[in-house]
Amino acid sequence: MSNGEQLNLFQQPNSQPPTPAEVDIELIPTDAKVPIPPGSYKTMEVLAKQCQSCQRCELGATRINAVVGRGNLQAPIVVIGEGPGQNEDETGLPFVGKAGQLLEKILAAVKLDSEKDVYICNIVKCRPPGNRVPAAEEIAACKPYLLEQIRLIDPKIILLTGATAVKALTGDKRGISKIRGTWMEWEGCLCMPIFHPAYLLRNPSRDQGSPKWLMWQDIQAVRAKLDELIN
Ligand code: URA
Repeated sequence: MSNGEQLNLFQQPNSQPPTPAEVDIELIPTDAKVPIPPGSYKTMEVLAKQCQSCQRCELGATRINAVVGRGNLQAPIVVIGEGPGQNEDETGLPFVGKAGQLLEKILAAVKLDSEKDVYICNIVKCRPPGNRVPAAEEIAACKPYLLEQIRLIDPKIILLTGATAVKALTGDKRGISKIRGTWMEWEGCLCMPIFHPAYLLRNPSRDQGSPKWLMWQDIQAVRAKLDELIN
């Protein structure tokens, strides 16, 4: 009997041998108490696949879709939001509702293309019911996915939208009004805290010193820094 024939004895009729990606997934811990080691995911595809069946926290029970990310996997900028809302839960894509449309406009204002120049994701991949702020245990359970996303993309700049994103990634508990527009370093990567677009929707004034005006200053600083880093 040839080697191939022997192998076939162990397979169900018509079944394919597991791909390397499928073998990886089997080995990655699914219990939130067991950390996911850095370097576990070879590709974003494998990570995304595991997120779709993730039950590391209670948000897994109520989601329609896990919302992993969108944009360029080689982007120089990663934008991190808080967590999916209803539109995102329904579509499986981050920042596609009203806040997302405003984010697109903010990026476009400094000629950043959301499909080419950025990758957009969230602190938690599943929608917190009623759009509440994600709980500390939910953030902790989901954080390995975010860290792996950042490792796979290896961006030059991370934009942290709102205080929850800043605290979840860096541990900095200061209010967003205090730290927005200031560069911070996290794990050797430049991070810029900015207002969350949803906050700008609630504060539409464009007067000097208003949140929208400050966002315009901040996004111009991001554009200038990116130009400096890539040229
Ligand atoms: N707000 C977020 O923080 N993330 C989204 O994906 C949508 C709205």
